Amino acid sequence: MAACPCFLWSLQQQWIEVFLVVLVVTIPKATMGCYTSIFSFGDSLADTGNLYYSSQDPTNNCFLHPFGETYFQYPTGRCSDGRLVIDFVAEYFGIPLLKPYLGIKNGKLKDANVERGVNFAVAGSTALGIEFFDKNGIHNVITNDSLRIQLDWFKELLPSLWNSSSTSAGLKSILGSSLIFFGEIGGNDYNYPLFLQSKSVEEIMTYVPQVVGAITSGIKELIDLGAVTIVVPGYLPIGCSSTYLTIYTTIDEKEYDQAGCIKWLNKFSEYHNEQLQLALHQLRELHPHTNIIYADYYNAAFPLYQDPDQFGFTGSALKSCCGGGGSFNYNMSALCGSSVRIACDNPYHYINWDGVHLTEAAYRWIAQGILEGPYTIPHITMPCLMQKMR
Ligand SMILES: *[C@@H]1O[C@H](CO)[C@@H](O)[C@H](O)[C@H]1NC(C)=O
Ligand SMILES: *[C@@H]1O[C@H](CO)[C@@H](O)[C@H](O)[C@H]1NC(C)=O
Ligand SMILES: *[C@@H]1O[C@H](CO)[C@@H](O)[C@H](O)[C@H]1NC(C)=O
Repeated sequence: MAACPCFLWSLQQQWIEVFLVVLVVTIPKATMGCYTSIFSFGDSLADTGNLYYSSQDPTNNCFLHPFGETYFQYPTGRCSDGRLVIDFVAEYFGIPLLKPYLGIKNGKLKDANVERGVNFAVAGSTALGIEFFDKNGIHNVITNDSLRIQLDWFKELLPSLWNSSSTSAGLKSILGSSLIFFGEIGGNDYNYPLFLQSKSVEEIMTYVPQVVGAITSGIKELIDLGAVTIVVPGYLPIGCSSTYLTIYTTIDEKEYDQAGCIKWLNKFSEYHNEQLQLALHQLRELHPHTNIIYADYYNAAFPLYQDPDQFGFTGSALKSCCGGGGSFNYNMSALCGSSVRIACDNPYHYINWDGVHLTEAAYRWIAQGILEGPYTIPHITMPCLMQKMR
């Protein structure tokens, strides 16, 4: 245990007490990193600037004030007021915050230090390719840089990580000591049709096997290249998101749980997560030498909404910090960034940032729950220890 920056707290109360201390200082950093580098794939929950650098003339709310105000003091392309889960993960393992691949590729980001890690996640990205959405009449997809494209970028980058072409052993050893953060991805495959309200949930459920299939085939590709430790986050409880609460608002109280989240939407999130976990279980059996870790974002985030005061969320648990009014402070015609340039006074008291994305404070709790709490299967520190012992 001592070799790893990992504390196992079995009791949640203990976990919270220690965290409150940590909150004042910072998430403990690895004095001795378990991983030499981190490579990240996914969507806006993990994008540290790829959507921003993907276009000559970037236009997206996430690129505008007050995004980034809490931590960076300026917009960085992250869809939050500050750091994302992947940023806390990097800090935890003593690795510099991951730079977006497209910023490195187009030469706008210097001193990229790609050996320590690169981020391929793109806000708005989907697990399935754009053709799937075209075919299904879903035309509100904001980027074509789906998971397939992100994996191709990774392959493009590999020669700069490793130059010897005589043997694949060098590459395997680099990837073997890397942490791959694979997601969250797939959420947007459902968000686009659900935002449009053009499809029934029954129809969207038929997408799940395809979405999960795209995720697992991506993981297989990385394993074939030599990846060993792959963290695969699940989908958030979307029934608690201000956007969904606004879009699917109803006077039928039975549709809401005790916290005020929409039950059928959360059930749908859980359904995707269950199918994903079944597929990961099969992958582990096929590849016993790998560490495929499910990161349970759903259950890491759910308690925040159910018992917000306990986590310091004394604003309204279901309202956005930054939005254009209404019951959940979310208004599709007055979004954070474009029309609304001022956020709530204290984003630390809010879970939902702009309606879709969470605040840095909420992401910090999720990261903490993943890195040191009970929300990974198996526990993230196990492969880390195994790696040390090899
Ligand atoms: C994305 O793909 C569609 C075809 O499905 C194409 O019309 C569009 O121009 C592409 N967008 C970008 C930014 O490449
Ligand atoms: C591999 O070679 C390229 C081009 O010569 C160089 O820019 C890069 O730094 C090298 N990478 C490593 C890991 O040695
Ligand atoms: C949403 O914003 C639009 C544009 O500012 C405004 O006209 C409308 O009244 C707002 N709706 C609500 C429910 O606040």
